[in-house]
Amino acid sequence: MKENILAMNKRSFLATVCFAVAAATVVSSCGDGKRREQRMEFARNMYDPVAYNPDQPNANFKNKITAQTPPEGSTPIGFEKFEYENTTEDYELAGEEMVNPLELSEANLQKGEALFQAYCAVCHGADGKGDGPITQDRSVEDSRGKRDLENFPPPPSLQKSDKASSSRGGLMSELTDGKIYHTIYYGHNSMGPYASQMKPEERWQVIMYVNELQEK
Ligand code: HEC
Repeated sequence: MKENILAMNKRSFLATVCFAVAAATVVSSCGDGKRREQRMEFARNMYDPVAYNPDQPNANFKNKITAQTPPEGSTPIGFEKFEYENTTEDYELAGEEMVNPLELSEANLQKGEALFQAYCAVCHGADGKGDGPITQDRSVEDSRGKRDLENFPPPPSLQKSDKASSSRGGLMSELTDGKIYHTIYYGHNSMGPYASQMKPEERWQVIMYVNELQEK
């Protein structure tokens, strides 16, 4: 009896295996092997969005292209054009024409001071006297020992009482807002440009604070 049960189990096991192999053969032989079957697609609208793709043809435009080039002279939203070139003439011109559009307020001055300390003081010094930390003798000590660091050439003092002159002529304390703006935008000699670090509004705020230093 016991043997019989084992024999039965063996037989039904074999039958199950045979059935599974047969079923797999039938299923896998469906289709002609050339065509890929289209089944349910997930989120069809991801492939065919309602809006035009940039590379799609577009009957709405004369040239039938979706990605249109902007008309000549157009500027991105929020972009402020700077009309002056990086030349001495345009530095002088900016100095005559540009006017700080911001209202002289405590808030603007405070922002300007914070920006000056963050971006300019490292060379110009906290009070604009041209004695920033990287213009002073410094040394580092690490695994390679103690070494003196090279000093950055000190900028002339911005303060009136120091009577320092700009390398482009005139007293530093008499530099007009436009000249300072031009300097922030393009840099000058060993001073790099700060146009990409500061937004136009921030440049005017820092100029407001430089004006305070010029009065000292
Ligand atoms: C890496 C050091 C450095 C930093 C940072 C720096 N400056 Fe200068 N700046 C100089 C030097 C050096 C000069 C003098 C350049 C010359 O006349 O050859 C100078 C000159 C100037 C002048 C006088 C330009 C002229 O026409 O003579 C102004 C104004 C000025 N900097 C403003 C700023 C402001 C504002 C900042 C911060 C946004 C700033 N600088 C950041 C080094 C620096």
